[in-house]
Amino acid sequence: MRIAVLTGAGISAESGLRTFRDTEGLWEDHRVDDVATPEAFQRDPVLVHRFYNMRRADAARAQPNAAHRALAKLALRHDVTLITQNVDDLHERGGSPDVIHMHGSLLCALCAACGRRWPAPLTMRSLDLCPHCGKAQTRPDIVWFGETPYHMEEIWQSVEAAELFAAIGTSGQVYPAAGFAQHARRSGAKTVELNLSASAVSRDFDEHRIGPASQLVPQWVAELCV
Ligand code: APR
Repeated sequence: MRIAVLTGAGISAESGLRTFRDTEGLWEDHRVDDVATPEAFQRDPVLVHRFYNMRRADAARAQPNAAHRALAKLALRHDVTLITQNVDDLHERGGSPDVIHMHGSLLCALCAACGRRWPAPLTMRSLDLCPHCGKAQTRPDIVWFGETPYHMEEIWQSVEAAELFAAIGTSGQVYPAAGFAQHARRSGAKTVELNLSASAVSRDFDEHRIGPASQLVPQWVAELCV
């Protein structure tokens, strides 16, 4: 079966990584406009690098949980397209073969001058020089607010082709990801939401499973792999 899966910060919460909008979420300590926009980076690259260096270190210490590992198992039995809003690499370390990082990745650095990418060092600094063009305009390869998410053509194709669409651990508050369920449903897919609480787009789902991802996802995958 063709399955499109969208994940958000909630799938990594039980691995110890903070979500954005829960209590104690990242957006409680940091204003988006200070750390997650191109203007913020122009204004204060040191602060922005500090924010992503902290998240990169947290992600390096974290381990994939049962939900990440279950999705890897699902891909062994079905034609799974895994789309994540997350910038950690827990899906990859949990065994998922192909992960679409629509909001970029903490493990990747980008040169704002020449557009080349390379593996990010654990700590990035605003004076780091691009290894390709030599300019000091290196940035985290993260899609900031106001920028266009990556791989959107491939994503829309997989959402339209899906027979089953699942959203896991996302609040459904950021588009275009929040619109995927409605689009999948209109294209004929069954839609299921696996989340700790109702999301802003729960109405777009045929089925809702409420609880922690590390319990919900292995159960859901087991039912699909009988
Ligand atoms: N299991 C399942 N769901 C969980 C768990 C858990 N253990 N813990 C939290 N959740 C749910 C919350 O109920 C919430 O609905 O995960 C969701 C997390 O929502 P957000 O913090 O808004 O994260 P996300 O939806 O991934 O944010 C989307 O917004 O800030 C931008 O670019 C950022 O990619 C991010 C995007």
